[in-house]
Amino acid sequence: MIDFSSFHKLSYGLYIISTEFDGKKSGYAGNTGFQVTSNPATLAISCHKENYTCGIIQQSKKFSLSVLQKELDIAIIGDFGFKSSENTDKFAKYQWKKGVLGIPVVTDSCIAALECEVIQEVDCGSHILFIGAVKEAEKLSDKAPLTYEYYHEHYKMLAPKNAPTYIDPANLQSEEEKPAAEKTDDADMAEHICIICGYTYDPAVGEPSLGIPPGTAFEDLPEEFTCPICSAGKDYFKKV
Ligand SMILES: Cc1cc2nc3c(=O)[nH]c(=O)nc-3n(C[C@H](O)[C@H](O)[C@H](O)COP(=O)(O)O)c2cc1C
Repeated sequence: MIDFSSFHKLSYGLYIISTEFDGKKSGYAGNTGFQVTSNPATLAISCHKENYTCGIIQQSKKFSLSVLQKELDIAIIGDFGFKSSENTDKFAKYQWKKGVLGIPVVTDSCIAALECEVIQEVDCGSHILFIGAVKEAEKLSDKAPLTYEYYHEHYKMLAPKNAPTYIDPANLQSEEEKPAAEKTDDADMAEHICIICGYTYDPAVGEPSLGIPPGTAFEDLPEEFTCPICSAGKDYFKKV
């Protein structure tokens, strides 16, 4: 038997993983990053094959891992964790620098940054485990790191399907473990807030940018509706 809620007892940090190849910068938010060995120093990241960044790392053979700080503006996770570098310049809004390996290193809201050269790729099915030799490591501040638990508890944010730690809500046993959107009652005209970025859908206003007219209840939005700010799906909305 697998009790999926036990996976929530595993602890992680949160990172921005970046790379660049042939002038194309790419990066994503990841909780799976850890030190594998100390001598030589190596790190591993688990990257979903559908992440745009995955293909770019396979070409560049390099990645940087920036450690996010505990107190931050969650927009950085909304941008790096819920959008694709294929059609978004995620680096335009945030501070970053060119690292010694010639790849972007995000410094915004980060307390340390490490740069790695990929020495091994392990195909894990949906994800690729990249093992990288650390070539540069810098502490940026003495602030506390963001943990995955704090991310869930304090910012009330979730992990999208590409995160290795994603759990299908249907597999969670207790009501508390289910995303808020699962617990909403019948259709009504209540506002709904995106728990990722804080955008509020107000049925009285609709969403003109998406052609949704005033008077459309949240429950009547099409299933493919996504947050106009961070692109999170309907499951990430909760009733205000
Ligand atoms: C909290 C959080 C943790 C995540 N952890 C991972 C991870 O460890 N590995 C992964 O491949 N994707 C992870 N993701 C998903 C990617 O950040 C997401 O798919 C992103 O949009 C990919 O960007 P890209 O297509 O520009 O590479 C996570 C997202 C969030 C919000």
